[in-house]
Amino acid sequence: MIKIAILGYGTIGSGVVEVLHTNRDSIAKRAGDGIEVKYILDLRDFPGDPMEDKVVHDYEIIANDPEIQVVVEAMGGVEPAYTFVKRALLSGKNVTTSNKALVAKHGAELIAIARKQSVNFLFEASVGGGIPIIRPLNSSLTADEIEEITGILNGTTNYMLTKMTFEGLEFDNVLKDAQSRGYAEADPTADIEGYDACRKIAILTSLVCGQQVDFEEIPTEGITNISATDMKYAKAMDRVIKLLATSKKTEDGYYAMVAPFMLSQQHPLYSVNDVFNAIFVHGNVLGDAMFYGSGAGKLPTASAVVADIVDIAKHLHKNILISWSSGKMNLVDCKKAKSQFFVRTSEKCEKITEVFGEVEYVEAPGVTGEIGFLTETMTEEAFEQKAGSLGSILQRIRVV
Ligand code: HSE
Repeated sequence: MIKIAILGYGTIGSGVVEVLHTNRDSIAKRAGDGIEVKYILDLRDFPGDPMEDKVVHDYEIIANDPEIQVVVEAMGGVEPAYTFVKRALLSGKNVTTSNKALVAKHGAELIAIARKQSVNFLFEASVGGGIPIIRPLNSSLTADEIEEITGILNGTTNYMLTKMTFEGLEFDNVLKDAQSRGYAEADPTADIEGYDACRKIAILTSLVCGQQVDFEEIPTEGITNISATDMKYAKAMDRVIKLLATSKKTEDGYYAMVAPFMLSQQHPLYSVNDVFNAIFVHGNVLGDAMFYGSGAGKLPTASAVVADIVDIAKHLHKNILISWSSGKMNLVDCKKAKSQFFVRTSEKCEKITEVFGEVEYVEAPGVTGEIGFLTETMTEEAFEQKAGSLGSILQRIRVV
């Protein structure tokens, strides 16, 4: 029997208990042994819960119990998760986590400790919820140089943008709806400002380039300034607006960015709606691949965590090599990245032509008192310069 401890009995922690219970026999068969939850660490008590007697309030009990082989970190946030996880690894325990904040900030160090200790630090659930993407990048796609990863990596904002697209609602209304359904947190900042997606693309880019990508260096825009009017223009062009997290390998190095984009019907992520996530990967020998599915929520995320526990059980005392060193990857400045831009302005056509040359005008039904247009493809730097010369810009959204 493999004895595990779960840190945090919230949504993910209780999901892990549920998955282990629901699929107990098949999981034991695949792991080669049964999995038993010995402790659950939480500040709270859970009277009446079937796991009530497993709950402890002191991490020392877990840290000092040699029977515990796997620690499941499901607390979220960097501290005390980092301290607990590091200690577990240093004392020869395996760890799996769903915590993207922890992995984005300390992934390289925790991977190195796990390697030294001949244990494993796995984090499949930290990106894309239940969608396999970490393991594919670390095993199935290792023959490739990955040249692009572009994902819809945040379920809450994808749900909100889908609602705005199909129901013509304004941002504030869909945010309230997302909160009432439990998708968005009471403080939705991390989702709507793009910070959650930023950490996830930092993790994926670190895995792809094998070095530490600091999430603080990834230019990040959220969806808070996307309006029902923008959606009308997108519809008029048969496009949709999606929050993309993208990283690309160029001749000069990698660049990464999180921002809303207007996608054409031909784009592989065009049809990814509601809370679903999807990740498009382009490899230099593979070509294109897509990973699609449930990117958030209790059971999908717990499914990925439990799969990590099974992998750990199959590799006890043997470290699975993960290529992600602490050497820092300096990202290429996004100002050199090229895009076409959709612009809304209250300036006149003459001024637009004077600054941007020939552009493609876009008319949206019911929108008056402003002009919408598409620019040529140009660098971010060139666009910023022209936008400054144009004067009043009501909106600008990159187009792919
Ligand atoms: N808030 C995140 C989302 C949860 O909406 O995708 C999963 O990381």
